Amino acid sequence: MKTPGEDLAKQLMIAIDGPSGAGKSTVARMLAARLGYSYVESGAMYRALALLALETDTPLDDGPALAALAEDAEMRFEQHGESNRLLLNGRDVTEAIRSSEVTRAASLVSVHSEVRRRLVECQQVLGREGGVVMEGRDIGTRVFPDADLKVFLEASPKVRAERRFREIANGVKANREEVLREMTQRDQRDQFREVSPLIPAEDAVRLDTTDLTAEEVVEKILSLVRQRSGVQIQDSEVRSQKGTGGEKRG
Ligand code: DC
Repeated sequence: MKTPGEDLAKQLMIAIDGPSGAGKSTVARMLAARLGYSYVESGAMYRALALLALETDTPLDDGPALAALAEDAEMRFEQHGESNRLLLNGRDVTEAIRSSEVTRAASLVSVHSEVRRRLVECQQVLGREGGVVMEGRDIGTRVFPDADLKVFLEASPKVRAERRFREIANGVKANREEVLREMTQRDQRDQFREVSPLIPAEDAVRLDTTDLTAEEVVEKILSLVRQRSGVQIQDSEVRSQKGTGGEKRG
């Protein structure tokens, strides 16, 4: 919800990057709601492509074939109240892209330069008007190197794995050690891939969320937003989201 002052302000492009479990999704969603901005979860696009690849038996190591798949796919985000839905060729895949199989496949799909080129283009279109909080791994370095504000969220591997565990353990048999092991593997792939590896942009503000709740992180980012835009932002709405922090994906 916007305050009157916010309507007059510049619509910023805010990039939030970091490894999984650092709190990106929760924080980006809350921040976007607070500012009346749209929220783009770029990881969901890699996940949707991975889902499509699994469904069409496209080999996960075939970059050109995966890029061709991405070229033909239509991905659209729709805001339904608090929930951000992803439609893949008109089909709501919001839940389907969260399975462990898709999580594993998305990590493999995202290493290919051809795939990244295509999805980065789509992300640039989604964010070009500003008024957007976009989260991912390379938003501040590659997708929007000129973003108005870049934040890089970090947290200890143990806390990140615990957040991920709580997210997937809901009704599913999961093992803490296995979650930590698989997350470490994906982290490595993100950090050491040739194209757009996960590194903080030089001008990113780094925030360690290990001991912070999501609303505390949002507060810190809002103070950066205030500094950069001169916007008056009310405190009440952030407080009203209390209790949603730290437990969700990110
Ligand atoms: O954030 P996430 O776990 O939903 O992301 C899914 C995968 O996509 C993950 O393996 C990293 C990759 N990804 C990426 O390479 N670049 C992005 N901007 C976002 C996600």
